[in-house]
Amino acid sequence: MKKENKKAYRASLSKEDYKKLTGFDGDWRDSWWNDSYLNMMAQQWKLDQVQTILDVGCGVGHWGQRLMRHLNNSATIYGIDPETNWIKGAEERAKKLGLNTRSEYKVASVESLPFDDNSLDMVTCQTVLIHVKDIKTAVKEMIRVLKPGGLFLCAEPNNFGRAAAQYVEEPLMAWKDISDLLELEYICTMGKLKVGEGHQSAGHLIPAILQEFGLENVQVKTNNQCASITPPYSDLGSKTMIKLMQDTWDNGAAFVLGSTEINCRRYYLEGGGDNNSFPRLWNLARQHLKKTLEKMNEGTYVAAGGNIHYLVWGHKGIH
Ligand SMILES: C[S@@+](CC[C@H](N)C(=O)[O-])C[C@H]1O[C@@H](n2cnc3c(N)ncnc32)[C@H](O)[C@@H]1O
Repeated sequence: MKKENKKAYRASLSKEDYKKLTGFDGDWRDSWWNDSYLNMMAQQWKLDQVQTILDVGCGVGHWGQRLMRHLNNSATIYGIDPETNWIKGAEERAKKLGLNTRSEYKVASVESLPFDDNSLDMVTCQTVLIHVKDIKTAVKEMIRVLKPGGLFLCAEPNNFGRAAAQYVEEPLMAWKDISDLLELEYICTMGKLKVGEGHQSAGHLIPAILQEFGLENVQVKTNNQCASITPPYSDLGSKTMIKLMQDTWDNGAAFVLGSTEINCRRYYLEGGGDNNSFPRLWNLARQHLKKTLEKMNEGTYVAAGGNIHYLVWGHKGIH
């Protein structure tokens, strides 16, 4: 990045704002969705007929509150998350958005939802099923609390696809290095799954699971938003990504599953990787990040993203 650009992005994203953005609370996560696209989907899902919606693993309430824009103003949103701090954040955010009289957030887990059978019009989640130990247990419990005819909707990615996408652009690497890094990502994905910390690419599996549990008319789409990173990197998405990469580098981490060396090694070994191979692979991942940052500093790095974020939905049968 040229000097003035470098200054511009650093000056315009304060430490506090960055923390807020990457902490799920704010515009950056909103930029995953185009309003026009969600409007179109809201019509297809008939969100104006939904009176009760449950946002599972709500974090600070981002996804459910975003959907609330498309529900009518007598609708109520419920949210659950195992993390007390996130629940507090969701309540604060709901208040700011004027939703406090129409929202209720509780500490709970998807494995045991504090709602009656067949009690809600819609149950949804975003980037949650990729974190749970057993996706089928989670989905089954979400369906239990859904009314007959109710809408199940989830937004879950395939992170392996995103990882692969980054290697077709500058800084280009030899195929051997790319294939080694993909192998690292793949083995770490399997290791994380094995230790019960979730399937990072679970979005890919959800349609079949919904069908297995008898949901009707199961459909899947991808979201229509890309993480475009283009000089002068002045939009919020680019600024946040650049800061995230710089911080990852400064903290001795890398843009691979696990992020830190300790975590990444743990997943790699659990996934069946060889301890002797790990240092070379880790170094390769760090070097790729370093070269990416150098290109950003020159103002020559471009990327259109490559996120595969699936929207999967279906309806609970009436009988
Ligand atoms: C990546 S965050 C997504 C937050 C929110 N859905 C959003 O899109 O902004 C994953 C969330 O899943 C929650 N989570 C993890 N395990 C869970 C479980 N077993 N039951 C419910 N939520 C869980 C985490 O606490 C976290 O808030």
